[in-house]
Amino acid sequence: MSKIFEELTREVVNTPKVPCREFIQAKLGLIELNDEKKKLAEELSTIYRRESGIFDCQIALCKGTGCQSSGEIALWNRIDEILKEKGIRDRVNIVETGCRGFCEMGPLVEIFPQHIFYCKVKPENIEDIITKTVMNNEVIEELLFDGIPIAEEIPFYKKQVRRVLKESGHINPENLNDSVVHGSYQGFLKAIKMTPEEVVQTMIDSGLRGRGGGGFSTGLKWKFTKASDSAKKYIVCNADEGDPGAFMDRSLLEGDPHKIIEGMMIGGYATGADEGYIYVRAEYPLAIHRLEIAIAQCREFGILGENVLGTGFNFDLKIKQGAGAFVCGEETALISSIEGKRGMPTVKPPFPSTSGLFGKPTSINNVETLANVPLILNNGVKWFREVGTEKSAGTKVFAMTGKIRNTGLVEVPLGITLREIVYEIGGGLKNGANFKAAQIGGPSGGCLNEEHLDMPLDYDSLKAAGAMVGSGGLVILDDKTCMVETARYFMSFTQSESCGKCIPCREGTGRMLEIMERIVAGRGTMNDITLLEELACTIKNASLCGLGKTAPNPVLSTLKYFRDEYIAHIQDKRCPAGQCDALKRYEIIPEECRGCSKCSRVCPVGAISGEIKKPFVIDQDKCIKCGACFEACPFNAIKVG
Ligand SMILES: Cc1cc2nc3c(=O)[nH]c(=O)nc-3n(C[C@H](O)[C@H](O)[C@H](O)COP(=O)(O)O)c2cc1C
Ligand code: SF4
Ligand code: SF4
Ligand code: SF4
Ligand code: FES
Repeated sequence: MSKIFEELTREVVNTPKVPCREFIQAKLGLIELNDEKKKLAEELSTIYRRESGIFDCQIALCKGTGCQSSGEIALWNRIDEILKEKGIRDRVNIVETGCRGFCEMGPLVEIFPQHIFYCKVKPENIEDIITKTVMNNEVIEELLFDGIPIAEEIPFYKKQVRRVLKESGHINPENLNDSVVHGSYQGFLKAIKMTPEEVVQTMIDSGLRGRGGGGFSTGLKWKFTKASDSAKKYIVCNADEGDPGAFMDRSLLEGDPHKIIEGMMIGGYATGADEGYIYVRAEYPLAIHRLEIAIAQCREFGILGENVLGTGFNFDLKIKQGAGAFVCGEETALISSIEGKRGMPTVKPPFPSTSGLFGKPTSINNVETLANVPLILNNGVKWFREVGTEKSAGTKVFAMTGKIRNTGLVEVPLGITLREIVYEIGGGLKNGANFKAAQIGGPSGGCLNEEHLDMPLDYDSLKAAGAMVGSGGLVILDDKTCMVETARYFMSFTQSESCGKCIPCREGTGRMLEIMERIVAGRGTMNDITLLEELACTIKNASLCGLGKTAPNPVLSTLKYFRDEYIAHIQDKRCPAGQCDALKRYEIIPEECRGCSKCSRVCPVGAISGEIKKPFVIDQDKCIKCGACFEACPFNAIKVG
């Protein structure tokens, strides 16, 4: 290895001083490097720096929000301390990465070149990791997931096709050079050598559909924006991500911000926009922090600003922090919010492509959509379409939560079945419970049942089943989950997030919620089901924006696939899952009761009576179903039905 390579690679690792501008300009063919630097540029673009031999070892520490909240910062300090103690600090590189998607198992630590992957690491494990794994190549069994040492061999990762998430969890997202070494801005360099029309056509040919919910063709959206006649245009990245439980966009921004910036640059070039906005909710401070760093580095190295990399293309970015209203993810509300107005949707047409931000043509694209763009430019349309289905090409990131063993972010080919996700990637349900349903697509999505386990998950089949890919929320539910209560929960979310501008949504979601509350409280009537269906139909047809149009979906899909549960709540005054408090019945099992009186002493309404050492009884008319007796009984003598 040449001396200059050694020196400059050291700089790549430790500081952002490597001549990045020169390196990128040379890639562009704008300048000619001398032989030594040419060799360096080649090596830099192909060699993983951890395999460059500069360091004996690399410790990758996940610094995503999940791992940070479970103690990552203490780990870094401890690693640094022990490495210094052992006198090997200068031989071991510590890289703080973005989220690896397996947050439940965090904090995560991966050791290279051995590729050993440790979960739930605590500061007291660090000394062992360094003396055993780093210094002696020994594996510490207790820190492995299911005894598997290599991350890629763990079922959670094995079946995934990590494309947009590929670098997330491997690179240092706060170091531009690290991103460049791993291929960032190569897609832009290819795009800038094409005409904008060719870039748009490439996107159309790829079949990329918006990952933010609607699934509209990204290429067509760009074509319409490009066709709009205006000297000023914008591209907006929608990173509002308001769905409860969803965190794929946050992870992408935290783990690989340059991919999104590059996607926006390509979009700007293709549509004729010279300015971009990233609309990101203020509850994502780490994502905002990393974006700010990435944008500042890009400006410093001439990747953003005037005459980007000497190409004549001008492009710059601004971050706009949103206050966290779900409706502000809707594109017209988002535009109003950026403009400083109240975040309320407006009537379409005009669509943002013709009249968007500040009245100018604007392309609004989701974070994950934009992350796919450089990959398509870099690897080609054929590569992109190799996974997925004919009409739903590529991969989709889902945020998998609920009663599943392995929760986290999973990137899978569109068209994969729910069974593969739940049982192969997710490891099945927790405690061997039975699968009951999957709530997919966030509050606008729907609930699928067991019959859908083998249905391919793609835009069209999900829509036909009354659900949607949506932004990628995926909640797995077991047989102890009440589907009526689940639908009520989502209804309460959309009702409280309705902006109130139009009556069908403002009043309709309120009325639907009242009915749902009545049913879970055991006061529903069979007529309520008819009312729910009528209201849902009106709200869907008459609401102004997507929030109202999709708000009834969780209720409609549960009515379709779990109607018997509604009937049990209404007619039998019974919650089959035993989850709805108002329908619970607490009973003392006489054979188990020892007559200790503990339950009667905690009952707040004096509903329990009996003689010591004889079975006690609950007066059902007095019982307010608070559950205190159930918690207090030391002999499990109280059953809940
Ligand atoms: C209530 C509501 C909330 C939305 N929230 C988001 C969001 O958080 N992120 C997002 O990308 N799209 C969201 N959308 C969809 C956007 O309006 C828009 O379609 C999307 O950003 C377009 O990007 P795409 O084509 O890349 O999917 C939401 C739509 C509605 C109706
Ligand atoms: S549908 Fe709901 S969220 Fe959308 S504009 Fe109407 S009231 Fe507001
Ligand atoms: S559930 Fe509450 S109110 Fe009912 S018997 Fe038990 S302690 Fe009393
Ligand atoms: S606490 Fe349990 S065992 Fe004791 S009286 Fe109540 S039901 Fe019987
Ligand atoms: S934050 Fe570490 S795996 Fe998600």
